[in-house]
Amino acid sequence: MLVRYLGHSAFYVRGESVSFLIDPFLTGNPKAVGKIDDFDDVDYIFVTHGHGDHIGDTQEIARRSGATVVCNYEISVYLSRSGTKCHAMHIGGSFEFPFGKVKMTPALHGSDIESSDGVIPGGVAGGFLIEVDGRKLYHAGDTGLTLDMGLLKEDEVEVAMLPIGGNFTMDVEDAAKAANLIRPNHVIPMHYDTFEAIEANPEEFAAAVSGTVDVVIMTPGESVEFPLVEVLDQ
Ligand code: NI
Ligand code: MN
Repeated sequence: MLVRYLGHSAFYVRGESVSFLIDPFLTGNPKAVGKIDDFDDVDYIFVTHGHGDHIGDTQEIARRSGATVVCNYEISVYLSRSGTKCHAMHIGGSFEFPFGKVKMTPALHGSDIESSDGVIPGGVAGGFLIEVDGRKLYHAGDTGLTLDMGLLKEDEVEVAMLPIGGNFTMDVEDAAKAANLIRPNHVIPMHYDTFEAIEANPEEFAAAVSGTVDVVIMTPGESVEFPLVEVLDQ
């Protein structure tokens, strides 16, 4: 699977039979690299929670591409009102999509939606465990550290995206603990340096988990193919 980092918590993923976005916050994201019309061919958009830096451009991209939005039930009710096609799920639930199984995982965070009618309830925040080409990807969404993350160890996650920016989510230290609980093959730090309140050093995160989990620090716009091809030292 190809994983392209779009800045903040936004990713584009392309597998053999599917392409999707996760938390496509492009407009208003100072770190964003992609534009709305770059994603006219996506099949799905995964939204972890209702905050603006995660719903982002979901409605506009879904309208242009015809993509199905996978999100919690409350966000699906909100998005469906404007005609967005949604597949509602909820925490702990799994569903077999044509490309693989998806499970909505818990997150310790809020999920209210800032709509034009003011702030409306958006259920609870989550994350996603997504099967692509037979391998599992885990996007934690926005969350504090939980011991529950240790349950993901059994899933043998290929690549985990974890927030490291602190203030609203785990910081470097807690994200390192999370990586040690989950033990994915690779971990990509996210949700840092977009705003002043979430400044963090991904190298510090890499140092904190070195020896246990491989850290892939991605700059916005960069793409990586997983599983990584071994590069032998010359
Ligand atoms: Ni949030
Ligand atoms: Mn956020």
